[in-house]
Amino acid sequence: MNNAVSGFSKLTKEEKINWIANAYFTNPAEAIATLKQYWNNDAKVQQLHDDFIENTISNFYLPMGIAPNFLINGNYYSVPMVIEESSVVAAAAKSAKFWSTRGGFKATVVNTEKIGQVHFLFQGDSVRLQSFFEAIKPILLAATESITANMQKRGGGITSLELRDKTTELENYFQLHATFETKDSMGANFINSCLEQLAKTLKEEALNYAGFNDAEKNISVVMSILSNYVPNCIVRAEVSCQVADLAEKKIENPQEFAEKFVQAVRIAEIEPFRAVTHNKGIMNGVDAVILATGNDFRAVEAGVHAYASRNGQYSSLSHAQIENGIFTFWMEIPLAVGTVGGLTSLHPLVKIALEILGKPSASQLMEIVAVTGLAQNFAALRSLTTTGIQEGHMKMHINNILNQYQTTPEERKMIKSHFENNTISHAAVVSFIDSLRK
Ligand code: MEV
Repeated sequence: MNNAVSGFSKLTKEEKINWIANAYFTNPAEAIATLKQYWNNDAKVQQLHDDFIENTISNFYLPMGIAPNFLINGNYYSVPMVIEESSVVAAAAKSAKFWSTRGGFKATVVNTEKIGQVHFLFQGDSVRLQSFFEAIKPILLAATESITANMQKRGGGITSLELRDKTTELENYFQLHATFETKDSMGANFINSCLEQLAKTLKEEALNYAGFNDAEKNISVVMSILSNYVPNCIVRAEVSCQVADLAEKKIENPQEFAEKFVQAVRIAEIEPFRAVTHNKGIMNGVDAVILATGNDFRAVEAGVHAYASRNGQYSSLSHAQIENGIFTFWMEIPLAVGTVGGLTSLHPLVKIALEILGKPSASQLMEIVAVTGLAQNFAALRSLTTTGIQEGHMKMHINNILNQYQTTPEERKMIKSHFENNTISHAAVVSFIDSLRK
């Protein structure tokens, strides 16, 4: 297969689809029909999706589900989740229900600082650069005023600006390190616009600065960009109850359960191979809400995993303890999210998701997202330390196998009833389908 194309973006949507279908499929008509099957019937909605990215040929569906009964800081939420993995919503809902009768989830936003940097090269005397920076700092900030005016009205803006000398790590490398408050927006565009203006003014002012020699006047800006590492944009989520209150149908011995649970978390704290999977389970919940609410899951993922390694070794994001007969399970994660701007006012399903959550502020959304992550982690650890993960997972995944084998409603009924009392595995389901069909 070696299909190069030039000017693809200039083709019409029909032409793009035809080209793809003819280049990559033995049955182009079938491929075209499948791609078009996922177009929206409403041309306006389709146009909206076409315009999100370049070269749109179709829409890629993911299920949107609801995990109800999340009691967070005394209020009930039904949490919208967008995810393809069979058991995630069911697990979140199960955890939510479990904790709703044990005091619910407590969540607090610790801080909300975002960071951006102008990375530049300066060849010269760093003391003179520092004096230059002090002298022009008000000019730098004033230059961003037209960009920051609206944000300032909402209580946000640039909260600090420093010069950082990084020359011990990389020759001639300095930064303007800026911190931002972006209120209910994630703030990526705002931050990047501010940074690009800061960079421009920095260069201009250096050229006119009498205290610099010729080499020093010529500051070279390498790039200006926000950081997705936000270790001061932290939310904490927590559950706790008396160990004895953990008891329920599948937790007959709550003390033993709590101890094993804490041990499982300790393992994730010290063993990176386990920590990655442990945290992946947390991100099952986090990403699903991030996606449903139109936020940037790549930014969140990158920031969260960097935070998980902040002490030099990748480690568990969550922690658990038993103290004086009380079981506590908590985590703190960095989350830069928004509830205004970006996709939040564009994607009809994002609007619905935010409405279901009661039109939260960015801080409230941070709390909801973190709680969903913690709930997911609780569900995973609870299964792992008791029945094993496959029981619950396969119970949900069985529908995918039934779809894959295009089972009839009658077959489904028989299969489901058979597997109520038998262990579900892919092989067992397929062999049962075969036996039915013989
Ligand atoms: C599967 O998507 C997530 C888990 O592997 C998480 C975990 O092991 O904690 C079940």
